[in-house]
Amino acid sequence: MRFHFPLYSSSSFSLFSDFTFISSLPLIFSSSHFSPFISMAPAFEPLSPPHQEAEPQTATPHHADTVNNFGNDGQVVSKSKVTVVGSGNWGSVAAKLIASNTLKLNSFHDEVRMWVFEETLQTGEKLTDVINKTNENVKYLPGIKLGKNVIADPDLDNAVKDANMLVFVTPHQFMEGICKRLVGKVRGDVEAISLIKGMEVKMEGPCMISNLISEQLGINCSVLMGANIANEIAVEKFSEATVGYRDNREIVEQWVKLFSTPYFMVTPVQDVEGVELCGTLKNVVAIAAGFVDGLEMGNNTKAAIMRIGLREMRAFSKLLFSSVRDSTFFESCGVADVITTCLGGRNRKVAEAFARNGGKRSFDDLEAEMLQGQKLQGVSTAREVYEVLSHRGWLELFPLFATVHEICVGRLPPSAIVEYSEKKPRLSLLEDPACYQ
Ligand SMILES: NC(=O)c1ccc[n+]([C@@H]2O[C@H](COP(=O)([O-])OP(=O)(O)OC[C@H]3O[C@@H](n4cnc5c(N)ncnc54)[C@H](O)[C@@H]3O)[C@@H](O)[C@H]2O)c1
Repeated sequence: MRFHFPLYSSSSFSLFSDFTFISSLPLIFSSSHFSPFISMAPAFEPLSPPHQEAEPQTATPHHADTVNNFGNDGQVVSKSKVTVVGSGNWGSVAAKLIASNTLKLNSFHDEVRMWVFEETLQTGEKLTDVINKTNENVKYLPGIKLGKNVIADPDLDNAVKDANMLVFVTPHQFMEGICKRLVGKVRGDVEAISLIKGMEVKMEGPCMISNLISEQLGINCSVLMGANIANEIAVEKFSEATVGYRDNREIVEQWVKLFSTPYFMVTPVQDVEGVELCGTLKNVVAIAAGFVDGLEMGNNTKAAIMRIGLREMRAFSKLLFSSVRDSTFFESCGVADVITTCLGGRNRKVAEAFARNGGKRSFDDLEAEMLQGQKLQGVSTAREVYEVLSHRGWLELFPLFATVHEICVGRLPPSAIVEYSEKKPRLSLLEDPACYQ
């Protein structure tokens, strides 16, 4: 078998070759689950540590309508109300993380509402009723208690109406419809965060999901991405995440507090587009890694795919947004998420099955058979990225991204992921500093 990578050769890609390493500092953090460890130095000035608020005497959920309450010092504190829009695998884990913190922190209302796309289970029961009865999302996160203060709500308008912190976490293809339904329904002072990996491609160009939310609802939207396979966080195994924010440090502090637990370490980075593009594009790299697994090519090949993929992620992000920072690719949302999704994760798993079947069974079929209602993001993202590449004349600059899509739609066999192509990259575009403008 031939293993040629001249198409992906890095030496002449100036755009791809100047990652800036930030220095690593030892950072000790205490956790009952995790021992002292070396962590990367954050690319930002430190914010106040999470969990510094005094914990209330009792941790019983309350359901008062008011968002004002008395803190331990007797002062009136304004409490934030959180709603999670989405209740799949990651949505349910996000609700669990958040609910454990809203009980502990005075600045949040205990109750966390979770909007559920209503489904009837095989038992004939409504998913929402079962979640509220058992405190478990039996379809998307079976076996895990969400916290009694998580209230499942099938009514989207009702779920968001009182919230001033909205956490969006649905598969990206549903977000345009959800945003349309929410216009005029959210509070004026609401802040949003998107945990959604994916983008919408429109006539005028690519639109990141955080931007879709901001534009359609007229609200600020941060993002949270990272090496976060939901089932591992559900059982409280240590991991990290990155919050991308624009400029308001008070708001990012709230998000960091809301998500941080001893087993989930959240780092803020002032680079919304960089963080979100990392989370989005790594799913395309995971599809490529799955092909390599299905073809049984081994670890060296997979590592090569991951490196090439990361390089293309960075180049694509910087071509789209010149503000994207190199250091973002060394946060959890960057290299760490590439690694975890290429080792585990549903995109890799289904792509492996696709390659094992020689590309003869469609991704739609495999998704329905293997994921039981969960959604693949990598295949649609590969198509969206391909649309951007062809529209802008960049196809030859991104051979890995382009090849993944062509394999997914059956134009190339899975083995093309590592095959030599006579197509030559158009280096001139990448060597021109104007392409960053
Ligand atoms: N699962 C993970 O490990 C993980 C980790 C990080 C990020 N993410 C991202 O989180 C986002 C949500 O993924 P997930 O894992 O929570 O979902 P999922 O794929 O597990 O579940 C699919 C969800 O979509 C809902 N749904 C189905 N049809 C719908 C419709 N027409 N309208 C609205 N909702 C509908 C289902 O009810 C279900 O809640 C995705 O962007 C994903 O990339 C997932």
